[in-house]
Order: sequence, then C-alpha cells, then structure tokens
Amino acid sequence: MIGGFFFIYICGIVSDRFSKEYNGTSENIAWFIILNKKRILILSYSFSSQTRNLLNGLIDGLEESGVEVFWEQLNPVAELRFPIGSISATFIMMVQTFLRKRYPVHPVNPICFEQWDLVILAGPTWSYNPSGPVLSLLDRDGKRLFDGKTVLPFISCRGYWRVHYHGIKALLRSCGAKVAAPIVFSHPTPEPWRTIGVFLKLAGKVPEAGNSWFRRFYPKYGHSRQQVEDCRMIGLELGQYIIAGTSLDCPLFPAPVRSEEKDDSEG
Ligand SMILES: Cc1cc2nc3c(=O)[nH]c(=O)nc-3n(C[C@H](O)[C@H](O)[C@H](O)COP(=O)(O)O)c2cc1C
Repeated sequence: MIGGFFFIYICGIVSDRFSKEYNGTSENIAWFIILNKKRILILSYSFSSQTRNLLNGLIDGLEESGVEVFWEQLNPVAELRFPIGSISATFIMMVQTFLRKRYPVHPVNPICFEQWDLVILAGPTWSYNPSGPVLSLLDRDGKRLFDGKTVLPFISCRGYWRVHYHGIKALLRSCGAKVAAPIVFSHPTPEPWRTIGVFLKLAGKVPEAGNSWFRRFYPKYGHSRQQVEDCRMIGLELGQYIIAGTSLDCPLFPAPVRSEEKDDSEG
C-alpha cells in the first residue's frame, strides 16, 4: 500500500520533469531515455585473440542489459605477429615484457576522451605485467583518458594475474582513476600443461593438434567456449549493476571467474 503510493508519487515527479524540461512529447521522451543511457568505454589490446573473444561475450551481455558500449581496440604502430614463431624470439619477448617494454600504439578515437559511466581497460598478462601496448597507452594518454573516471581492469591470462592487477591499479591511480575490482579469466587447462602449451603456441607450434600424448592434457589453447558464455552473463550482470548505480569498489565477481568446467587457476 505504502509502496504503491510511493511509486505513484515518484511517477508524478518524473512526469512533471518531462513536461517542464522535455515538453512531454514522445520524441522528447525518447531523447530523455537515450541521453540518460549509461555509457561504457572498452579499451583493449589482444595479441592472440583471447581477450577479444571474451570481450565479444561481455559486450553481448552489456548491450543486452541496455547500456551503450563503445569498443576501442589498440593498434600497435609496429605490427605484432601471433605466433611469435620461434623459441628464441619467444624467450626474448618474455624477457623484454618482464622488463615492461612499451609497444607504442596508434592514436585512439577522440570519443574515448569523453565522459563515461565506466571504462573497462582490457588485455592479457605479459610476464606478470600489463601488455606493452596497454602500458604505452597509459604513458601517453593515461591522464587524459582516466582522470576522474571509474576504471575496471579486465584480464585474460594463463593463470598468474595478481602482479599485473596490482601494477595496473597503481598506474591507473597515478592517472587519477578510481579503480574497480577486476574481472579476471585464466586458461582452464591445468598446470603444468597450460604453461608449456602457451610457450609452444607462442613459439609457433600447434601442441593441441595431432595425436600426440600432449594433446590429451592440452586439448585447446586459451579460453573455453564456456568462459566466453560466462563472460556474456557477467556483461549482463555488470550492465544491470551500472544501471542500478551499484558500487564497483567491492568484487562483484570471483577472481578469477570460475567456470563450470574444471578450472584450477591460481593467482
Ligand atoms: C610475452 C607473453 C608473456 C606472457 N606472460 C604471462 C604471465 O606472466 N602470466 C600469465 O598468466 N600469462 C602470460 N601469458 C599468456 C597470456 O596472458 C594469455 O595467453 C592470454 O590469454 C592472451 O590473451 P590475448 O590473446 O588477448 O593476447 C603471456 C603471453 C605472452 C605473449
């Protein structure tokens, strides 16, 4: 009874605002809804398509929830080819990325510098660090992009993401961002197979193919379809949280996200 009265009272205030500020026509009401739609920016880099695959699921879910999404994919100035191609070149890249080598990226779309209800900064872990293209973006545009914004780090990794998260959190805070609890996905294949498998894959081998004994333990590189589907559900929930104005300070999702399949990821 009291709830019903309260609802009618709120409807009265809203319709009064429409008639005063938006002149009450259906066209203006449509504009009111569009202008009040929550907006999310996703900035991402993906070397071997794993982050990109997950984001496709996440964006489906976000859009299903009714938020507006703009996705900007970082484009390195010097082309980075996957797979790297040889064991020695893979080893060199791992050492360089351990030392946080920057990989400069092309300028981002000016839209990215607008106001957003949430910014998602997504990418893989490289030698316990954020990837070189993401580090390069933070160096060049970090202050302009992230100052005063709420930024949610989204991480795709083999399984070791904590140093990456704490590093990117510190960098984002130094740019003036408010950092939300991260969304993390690690490869579902158990150790030691996923570490060996990722290294071989980067070096240009195809460890998941053929009839080798290794394939029994390493059926697939990267994330599973189930994880992409879980990411869609997370997108849907996250969109609903954003619309409801829920605080993102506390973790809303387990890190790493646990899928139904066996997933023994460790941070
Ligand atoms: C140079 C390099 C270093 C990596 N180092 C790590 C690491 O320290 N920890 C980890 O969990 N995964 C590591 N990985 C694996 C990637 O994080 C993982 O494969 C991720 O899913 C790739 O995402 P992407 O395809 O979007 O680039 C590394 C990959 C590369 C290329």
